[in-house]
Amino acid sequence: MCGIFGCILKNGNAAPIIHTSLKCLEYRGYDSVGIATLNNGQVNIKKDQGKIDDVHHILNLDDLPGSVGVGHTRWATHGAPLKVNAHPHVDCSGQIVVVHNGIVENYAELKESLENLGHTFVSRTDTEVIPHLIEETQKKNPSFTFTEAVLEAVKKLAGSYALAVISANEPDKIICARNESPLVIGVGEDALYCASDLTAFLPMTNKAVMINDGELVILTSGGYEIRRIADFAVVVREPKVIDWTPEMAVKQGYPHFMLKEIHEQPATLRNTLRMQGHYLDLISTFLDRANEVFLVACGTSYHACLAASYMFSKLAFLPSYPVYASEFVEQHGKSVNIDSTILAVSQSGETADMLGAVTCSQQRAATILGLTNAIGSTLTRVSRVYIGQQSGPEIGVAATKTFTSQLSVLAQLAFRLSNKRGKISQDEMDYLAEKMEHLPQTVEAIILTQEEKVKQLAKKYRDAKIFFFLGRGINTATAYEGRLKLMEIAYVPSIAFPAGESKHGPISLIEPGFPVIFICPKDGVTHKTLIGNIMEMKARGASIISIIEEGDEEVKALSDDYVEVPKGIPEVLSPIPFVIPLQLFAYYMALEKGVNPDMPRNLAKSVTVK
Ligand code: M6R
Repeated sequence: MCGIFGCILKNGNAAPIIHTSLKCLEYRGYDSVGIATLNNGQVNIKKDQGKIDDVHHILNLDDLPGSVGVGHTRWATHGAPLKVNAHPHVDCSGQIVVVHNGIVENYAELKESLENLGHTFVSRTDTEVIPHLIEETQKKNPSFTFTEAVLEAVKKLAGSYALAVISANEPDKIICARNESPLVIGVGEDALYCASDLTAFLPMTNKAVMINDGELVILTSGGYEIRRIADFAVVVREPKVIDWTPEMAVKQGYPHFMLKEIHEQPATLRNTLRMQGHYLDLISTFLDRANEVFLVACGTSYHACLAASYMFSKLAFLPSYPVYASEFVEQHGKSVNIDSTILAVSQSGETADMLGAVTCSQQRAATILGLTNAIGSTLTRVSRVYIGQQSGPEIGVAATKTFTSQLSVLAQLAFRLSNKRGKISQDEMDYLAEKMEHLPQTVEAIILTQEEKVKQLAKKYRDAKIFFFLGRGINTATAYEGRLKLMEIAYVPSIAFPAGESKHGPISLIEPGFPVIFICPKDGVTHKTLIGNIMEMKARGASIISIIEEGDEEVKALSDDYVEVPKGIPEVLSPIPFVIPLQLFAYYMALEKGVNPDMPRNLAKSVTVK
């Protein structure tokens, strides 16, 4: 998730405006920053790695001439957070300039064919193919205008993009295009803007035009023109007046980041489906060859590891050991060795306990693999191979979208491993792959249809003093995660166990009205046994709240309350949809309690002390 911005002014210099606007977008990423302007047929660029203020301090980002320009603040996905990978990117001639937010899925193929045609690339980014593709299109079609060349080039892109392109040859315009990454146009008295979101131009104008997927926009000082990419048909759309405050705009109208991030999950899951296959393959090769595999993490990331241990076992017959990073050195510090493989999972890549486990393992010559949301973090530097989970910055302290992204990446690793090991049939693999592709829609449907219901549940149970979360198999991890969310965000003491364990002790807590949340997927062998566990609790007067698949009449009949997710979810993928109602429940319980879900007391987003 990066931030892009562009502006065309009737008078004055664009650079200071771009600089200020990028500051408003810095929450979308701050690995590097760059600005390009056009002046007298010249392209001027300043860019570097680091936060905007630090780069500005050294380069003076305001000091670029010209009234037309674009800018970018980066959240690294392809290529480390280095100057060479910072946007804007240019073609061979340096005349065509692009800033981009998204992931070009087919960049490797495009890059190879452009290199064969003589194009020279300098960065490791996917974005750099775009200016070269535009350059190549113009070379092949000399009569094309700049707009036509951009149009033809974007037609060749697969994946997600919001981009803004300028050219020294037609310096009076900015061309933008959108597919699955946000893009909005701002219409001012003396200026036109394009940006990843409204925050960037709200101090200058509150007139905005939302751009849809598959649309291209031509901005000139005279106005904007929207065209459909598929057939270049004109789209007429008037600006709307937006009455958001800048604070509301950063949260895109949501009252809290946590809710915004819960709602972002269909998009972030879609992003994880665009992972670079090469890295997934590499990591699964290491896992395949390992003698012993430890999955090491803290908090929510540990729950993702726990779920992954079921995925690896069920799909690839690979035994793996999820370990709390804070316990790793005590538990395995003496035995971990050259034959051990550590897959460290960490949203921030900086958690001290996780790094402690990694350092200990490294000293004993184990192989370190990483899964993180922060490219450039310590974890990426100490890993033999790492993979970025592509969730974009998560600002709410509670991990929500980063959890489901981790699960998605880990499931894809399990698929690859399974393929390598030939453990399940091709038919089953195809079925799972299709279900996986469909998960973003499934999650979208849950949010759309169940959020209000969950909100009402929070009202009903707002005074409950304690909750029990129970699940079986892979959904033990979902139960743990539901408990963690409710405790950390709404401060409600909660207990979670594998449902089978509840009768070995915890059941003694149950008395009439005690709320027990069951996670009940239909697929797999756990459903029947879980019904037995529900009966045990019900017989003792517990209030049963169940998360069920649509049409699960058996569990519905036993439940005091239920939340439904769509039918037909394979067991190994079920934590992704089943956790969504639990995230929403924690959020609405926090609101019921009158506490701020974005800033739970005593917690930090990244825990860098042991
Ligand atoms: O950045 P990491 O994934 O390493 O962070 C691990 C935990 O600190 C984190 O998941 C924490 O438990 C969150 N508060 C969960 O919402």
